[in-house]
Amino acid sequence: MEAALESDSPQATERAARAVGKLLRPGDVVLIAGDVGTGKTTWVRAACDALGVRDPVTSPSFTIGQVYFGPVCVSHVDLFRLEDLGGEDPALLADYLTPDRVTFIEWPGAGRGQLEPDRVVLDLEMSHLGGDRRALAARGHGPLVDALRSALTLP
Ligand SMILES: Nc1ncnc2c1ncn2[C@@H]1O[C@H](COP(=O)(O)OP(=O)(O)OP(=O)(O)O)[C@@H](O)[C@H]1O
Ligand SMILES: [Mg+2]
Repeated sequence: MEAALESDSPQATERAARAVGKLLRPGDVVLIAGDVGTGKTTWVRAACDALGVRDPVTSPSFTIGQVYFGPVCVSHVDLFRLEDLGGEDPALLADYLTPDRVTFIEWPGAGRGQLEPDRVVLDLEMSHLGGDRRALAARGHGPLVDALRSALTLP
């Protein structure tokens, strides 16, 4: 299912991410693409909160990812600036994609070729619309896209 949605504040983005986070299960992979500052980490942080993660959620600086241990284990990967993983050891990304974790991937471009399509439950692209407005293009499993849509539709 696909949807073109809009968020008008960080809080709206967080609400949407929490609604999705509650529905995620170990093994699920969520991709969050979009330019610098569109809110990818903001989205992941709120989804992690809904999954019960209590560790601070920040973008990894010196590795491609980090793992949070909560009621559900979470891998948080950021492939910023990696052109492709062609020259890298495939295990680098695979190590984060274990079936016992929910995996979030910011800047997923370089990793797309290595992902099992069946495990990608949501593919999100965020873009700037000016000020605090963000466009969210979502493609994925129906219930997840529906949850995003309900959270971002004004009552
Ligand atoms: N509608 C919105 N949705 C999400 N974040 C927003 C929105 N409006 C403003 N912001 C702000 O934009 C910033 C987004 O920062 P964040 O680190 O989440 O972006 P990012 O996409 O992960 O950036 P990077 O590419 O550097 O990793 C935050 O300061 C957040 O409060
Ligand atoms: Mg980020």
